[in-house]
Amino acid sequence: MILVTGGAGYIGSVTSELLTAQGEDVVVLDNLSRGHRESLNPAAIFYEGNIGDRDLVIRIAREHSIDACIHFAAYAYVGESVSDPARYFENNVEQGNSLLGALLEAGVRRVVFSSTCATYGEPEKVPIAEDHTQKPTNPYGWSKLFMERIMHAYDQAYGLKFVALRYFNAAGATERLGEDHDPEPHLIPNVLNAARGRIPAVSVFGNDYPTTDGTPTRDYVHVSDLASAHILALNYLRSGGESEKVNLGSGHGHTVLEVIEAAREVTKRPIAVKIEPRRPGDPSHLVADPTKARTLLGWRPSFPDLSTILRTDWDWRLGHPLGYASSENGKTKN
Ligand SMILES: NC(=O)c1ccc[n+]([C@@H]2O[C@H](COP(=O)([O-])OP(=O)(O)OC[C@H]3O[C@@H](n4cnc5c(N)ncnc54)[C@H](O)[C@@H]3O)[C@@H](O)[C@H]2O)c1
Repeated sequence: MILVTGGAGYIGSVTSELLTAQGEDVVVLDNLSRGHRESLNPAAIFYEGNIGDRDLVIRIAREHSIDACIHFAAYAYVGESVSDPARYFENNVEQGNSLLGALLEAGVRRVVFSSTCATYGEPEKVPIAEDHTQKPTNPYGWSKLFMERIMHAYDQAYGLKFVALRYFNAAGATERLGEDHDPEPHLIPNVLNAARGRIPAVSVFGNDYPTTDGTPTRDYVHVSDLASAHILALNYLRSGGESEKVNLGSGHGHTVLEVIEAAREVTKRPIAVKIEPRRPGDPSHLVADPTKARTLLGWRPSFPDLSTILRTDWDWRLGHPLGYASSENGKTKN
């Protein structure tokens, strides 16, 4: 059985559903601080609790004979991590470390970990390969890099085997599951919310970067392709694979203005833009070299183009005008 932490969140819910579709038994552990009860996989066993609750994790691991953990649970807003770093180090690192300790105590030695391109910081070379220097420019990126380093040490000392999947920008939706964060820090949901008139304009932070149109370049990956990579990583570890770090990106970059233009074409709606000052710590180019994901894991994304990714998100948003119907606390959204 697989333990999925953060399985009520955006990427965790899609992965949890794909796992059961592929015949895996799943237990989800999520405190619903940022996830949605509605996005939980009905076929999974759900525990509402903290990853830092050591006794709970040991009990879950033993009662359900957990053989591996896919660890998504974390806070993931760069700006919030700059204004409140303590929150990020407590949740992502202290609780993350407690989770690893509890898993090891219960005999679970395989972990697939949600890492991020934010561990690289401002790139010296693009596309970014896994051996690129890691110099995060914000506490969120540091919290993920600390977890990578902790897992490396636990591999050396205790035989923990892990795959750190360094995602670039997750995007898109499945028929049932989409991206609904509050506040929403990600570009694509905001662009599509502007197309629906839910926000007056999309903020573009800086138009004087050294890119084709002055706005930052990012690499977008469909959430279902991220989900399938987790299952490949899990099977890689089950077949005795050594610990690894693997980028998950398409290898193609799109500037912010290109994303907005592509969204105008997909939605056939006007999208207003508001140019704002640069945000500190926003790199100009973040584009993955995805070669290792292909050669090591056999990963082949099935949503390679931006328009299709946007279309899946747009369809989900039209079908879910208020996002998930209620918040994690069961309150109705207004
Ligand atoms: N969305 C992206 O583009 C992106 C890119 C790179 C990395 N990541 C990483 O992927 C993971 C998932 O991202 P997401 O966008 O699905 O985030 P999300 O916020 O939608 O999901 C995270 C889930 O973890 C839960 N959670 C947080 N702290 C917890 C704790 N202490 N105990 C139990 N549950 C807890 C939240 O309630 C939420 O359901 C995160 O670790 C994030 O850092 C995301």
